[in-house]
Amino acid sequence: MFTVRQCHELDMSGKHTLIDKSPREATAAREIALRYGNQPDALLEILHDLQHELGCIPEAALPALAKALNRSRAEIHGVVTFYHDFRHEAAGRHVIRLCRAEACQSMKANELIAMVERFLQVRLGQTTADGAITIQEVFCLGNCALAPAVMVDDRVVGRVDAARMEKIIAECRS
Ligand code: FES
Repeated sequence: MFTVRQCHELDMSGKHTLIDKSPREATAAREIALRYGNQPDALLEILHDLQHELGCIPEAALPALAKALNRSRAEIHGVVTFYHDFRHEAAGRHVIRLCRAEACQSMKANELIAMVERFLQVRLGQTTADGAITIQEVFCLGNCALAPAVMVDDRVVGRVDAARMEKIIAECRS
């Protein structure tokens, strides 16, 4: 997990100024933005690359990114929070995405999600205490014919019931 190391310090005039003390996050944001020519249109690609590099989109990276793309921090923050794929904290060793779009809902996806939350003692978007598993919601994995479907890291699994899910969880923890 990354620590946000920003703090307010007094400048020469005695005003409180936000000082960025998170060089790794800020540097990564600047470097990746530069790779895309600091083009605001490439924001989604930049965010995906940033998450790939840091494991999440830390708050500390947003000011540097906003500056590089000549956008407000609020605009960048809005995009990050709009897309469920972007995380504010690093994920667990495995990510289980549970589909809750229509076809899966009709095959009891919500009951499956409730079972997983109870079993792992976490809610959607959270990571188990042992750091093994993060669970997330997703809307359609293109596997509707085999609903309910989940995605375990890069693998899509269909017709998932409670027993199958317990097996998946055990595999993730082994
Ligand atoms: S609705 Fe779940 S895979 Fe399409």
